[in-house]
Formats: sequence, structure tokens, C-alpha cells
Amino acid sequence: MVDETPIPIMTEVNGNDLAALETAKSRTLGCLPTYASIELYVYCCYQTSHDSQPYTNEFDCRQVVFVVRSRMSPAVPSMKKSDMLKNHHLIRAKRIFESLTPANILKRKIDQWSKITDDVCEAYHKWYYNNRVFETTKWAGVVTLKSPADMWNYQEIIFELKPQLIIEFGTRYGGSAMFFAGVLHQLNSAADSVVLSVDIDHVTIDARVKANPRIHLFQGSSTAPETAEKIVQMRAKYPGPVFIILDSEHAKDHVLGEMMLLRSLLRKGDYVIVEDGNINGHPVAPGFGQGPYEALEAYFAKFPNDYTRDEKREHKFGFTFAPLGFLIKN
Ligand SMILES: C[S@@+](CC[C@H](N)C(=O)[O-])C[C@H]1O[C@@H](n2cnc3c(N)ncnc32)[C@H](O)[C@@H]1O
Repeated sequence: MVDETPIPIMTEVNGNDLAALETAKSRTLGCLPTYASIELYVYCCYQTSHDSQPYTNEFDCRQVVFVVRSRMSPAVPSMKKSDMLKNHHLIRAKRIFESLTPANILKRKIDQWSKITDDVCEAYHKWYYNNRVFETTKWAGVVTLKSPADMWNYQEIIFELKPQLIIEFGTRYGGSAMFFAGVLHQLNSAADSVVLSVDIDHVTIDARVKANPRIHLFQGSSTAPETAEKIVQMRAKYPGPVFIILDSEHAKDHVLGEMMLLRSLLRKGDYVIVEDGNINGHPVAPGFGQGPYEALEAYFAKFPNDYTRDEKREHKFGFTFAPLGFLIKN
């Protein structure tokens, strides 16, 4: 006789814990499905969904993940165990689950999860960008046209680099300039460390940014000789390492022009971020036309030894608005 009591609330099992997985597996196989066992099915289906080995041919596991997840919804707490058992997706998932062992899970885990993670990160990247969330992302109330993950990454770089001068091309509202000034202040690296933010247009800059004593606003084009001259002056006054971020006009030629201007201004160890290489289909805004990503490719082709790419940082948070654009001056 089938037990018709409602399925209990889900309990989570950490799929990385092989001992716990085994315990849960025996428990699951020894009783009717519970939410705990379904969670395990989901895990196992993910394990096999990008698998080139035995399980792939059985069925499209991603479909099962979707179906199983919808069954797990708290919106259907009254689902009966007998109904669950009739679900053919679950039955197939159970078969696969039974054939898994800790050894084969361990063998496949890293590659498979990184593929899944890449897909998820790209989907999140597109979601964040296409919904224009960055246009309403604020630092201390001022719009900051960035991804929070990048900002956190920059903060970690700045903590290690201890720059005396942060240079930003492209101020807009000034949220990012405020962020950099705040990071410098909090790190207390050098009381006299400052931000130089360059923009052709100062109309949109927030009053608090203009009043911030750590922020030096400079009006002009980021590729103009006067900007180069200003950087030379600032470096003389603040001789420590420089962290510089290129976030002004995103056309390829302009970004290339900025990088050419920096060639003679930067020193070994300075840190350069070239933002918005994600546009023109890397992976967002596919119709933009050639932008920072293409500028970086062209620059590296011409000057392969100018910078070392900091790929670890670039990939650290799963997605970035600055692909190819985390650079350490050689
Ligand atoms: C993407 S916004 C900067 C966003 C800002 N860094 C932030 O994260 O909040 C780009 C800015 O670049 C400026 N800009 C455009 N062309 C420029 C140029 N040739 N030189 C300097 N700034 C420029 C625009 O006026 C605009 O304010």
C-alpha cells in the first residue's frame, strides 16, 4: 500500500560531501522519495548533464532538472508520494542515481561543474546587463555603472597594490570615483592617495563627488596631450603605484588611443583595467561594433610584452565587464 502522507520540506545534502552523499543514497533507495532524495536527484542529474560517459545517452538530464525542480516547489506541498512515484522523469533519474558511485562522481565533478558554472555565469552576466541593472547600481547613493563583482575585485587589487594614485577615464555621475576614493580612505594606505577622474563632460557629476577632497576631476579627452600632461604632474606629486581604469568612450579606436597614451606613462607593476570588453558579443550587446575587446586584441598583437594578463582576477567572480582587461604593466 502506498503511503499518501504529504512530502516533507526539503532538506539539503551537500553533493561535495561524498560520505553524506552515500548515506543519503542508501537512505533514499531504502524509502519512498522525499524532498531530500529529490534534491539528490537534481545533483546527480547535473553531474551527468554534460557527461560524455555512460549516462548521457539515457535522456536529457537538464529536462529532468527542470521537471524535478518544479515538483520541489513549495507551491505544491500537498503532492503525494504516489504521484511522485508515477513521474517517469524521476524514475529515470532514480535509475541513474543508483548507478553513481563516489569514485565516478569525484572523477567528473570538477570539469562538469566548471562547465555548468560557466553557463550559469554567462546567463547571469546577460541578465544583469540586458536588464540594465548597472544603470541603477549605486555607491553611496551615486550611480556607478559597474558590476558589483568587478568593484569587489578592484577593491582587493587596490588593497594589495596600495596605489597612491587611482586614475579613471570616464567619470559620468562619479559613483565609481567615490567608490575608489572611499576604498583609498578605508585602506588608509597613504593619507595623500587620491583619485584623478577624467571626463570630457562634467554636467552629470554629482555634487558630493565634486566636493570630495580625495577626488581630482579633470575635464578633457582621455586621449588628449593635456591629459597625458596632467597624469605626468600627478605622478610626480603621488609617486607610488598607479591603478588606472579605462571606462570612457568604448569604441575600439578610442580605447586603443588611450592605451597608446599610457605606454610612456606607466611603470612596472602599475595595474590597468580596460572595462566594457564584454560588449560586442563578449557576451553582451552583440550589435555594438568593435569595442574594448577588439582594441585589446589589436594592442596585444602589436605589443605582446607590455602587460601580463591577470587571468586569475579576471575569472575570479565568474563574470566581468572587463574580459581580457585585467593587466599588470611589465
Ligand atoms: C561609462 S561612463 C563612465 C562611468 C563611470 N566610470 C562609472 O563607472 O560610473 C563613460 C563616460 O565617458 C565619458 N567620455 C566619453 N568620451 C570621452 C573621452 N573622449 N574622454 C574622456 N571621457 C569621455 C562620457 O562623458 C561618460 O561620462
